[in-house]
Amino acid sequence: MAAQMNICVLGGTGFVGTAIINRLSEAGHWVTVPTRHPHLHQELQVLPTVRLIRADVHDPRDLDRLVEGMDAVINLVGILNEHGRNTFQRAHVELAAKLVGALRASRVRRLLQMSSLGADPRGPSRYLRSKGEAEALVRAADAQVDFTIFRPSVIFGPGDSLTNRFAGLLHQSHGWLPLARAQARFAPVYVGDVAAAFVYALRTRGTIGQTYELGGPQIMTLEELVRTTAAVAGLPCHVFGLPDSLARLQGLIMGVLPGKPFTLDNFRSLTRDSICTEDGFDRLGLPRHRLLELLPIYLAPPRAAVGSLAAQS
Ligand SMILES: NC(=O)c1ccc[n+]([C@@H]2O[C@H](COP(=O)([O-])OP(=O)(O)OC[C@H]3O[C@@H](n4cnc5c(N)ncnc54)[C@H](OP(=O)(O)O)[C@@H]3O)[C@@H](O)[C@H]2O)c1
Repeated sequence: MAAQMNICVLGGTGFVGTAIINRLSEAGHWVTVPTRHPHLHQELQVLPTVRLIRADVHDPRDLDRLVEGMDAVINLVGILNEHGRNTFQRAHVELAAKLVGALRASRVRRLLQMSSLGADPRGPSRYLRSKGEAEALVRAADAQVDFTIFRPSVIFGPGDSLTNRFAGLLHQSHGWLPLARAQARFAPVYVGDVAAAFVYALRTRGTIGQTYELGGPQIMTLEELVRTTAAVAGLPCHVFGLPDSLARLQGLIMGVLPGKPFTLDNFRSLTRDSICTEDGFDRLGLPRHRLLELLPIYLAPPRAAVGSLAAQS
């Protein structure tokens, strides 16, 4: 791999993409980032080697143009909720198929594909099934595509929609939060560590054809995650677990509210623990950070709460 590469990052304007692009730019790579809304992401435009362009990645002609001449493509496009019919299928499966086609046509071989822990064509939710189908498509193209697949657990960091979201909900509800699948387990992984894994894979041929599960060093239940967030943010916390029958109902009701705060499909994803069966970071030789090391920094906690948490960890 060339020291300075041309890299196209699909889905690069999001939470994870921004972390990856910052690192790629720091390393001197030339980065092209297609987006539907360039005006919303001007902060990426100021990075010296980053080019933000308006494009529709679902349009094969746009995709061909984006991929042409690249040394590598990173696919981060993903949604957690459907907006209309079959949008998981379109954003995850159909896009992966189109991307593989574009890579073949332009003879660009290197692809880093973002998936998710629990992705499985026979998984319990449409989200996990569509992520699993996308993985299968990418693997099936191994004769023409040098892929690496990443399967993270939930990702935390500045601007995440995990801890920041819980903090916002707890703030609004004065700490009262009914939780679906409160005992579901996660291995929260730091966004900077995920970004480091992607950048390392780009320069390491041994990662070709590999799949890496990416989890943080700590396994936590959903309830522990919320309680930790509350303690660090100095917020009241009266969370209580819902039985599955009520949690399903919660998904049905909240799934039709604006912004879909929680859906039946989210509930189904939560029926599977999001924890690793292997240590991808260890295989990559990369370090991981603990939630409690970093959460106090970006949630700007009152000092007393940090002190008591540090003592527990
Ligand atoms: N965050 C997590 O905890 C987590 C955990 C496991 C896996 N992942 C996976 O990691 C990837 C990135 O996640 P993230 O948290 O960074 O997501 P995010 O902040 O929501 O960003 C999603 C990105 O995908 C693009 N996108 C979304 N829907 C699209 C569509 N229908 N067509 C074209 N582009 C679309 C957006 O581009 P525009 O600029 O065009 O809007 C945006 O850049 C996803 O594949 C996600 O499934 C995330």
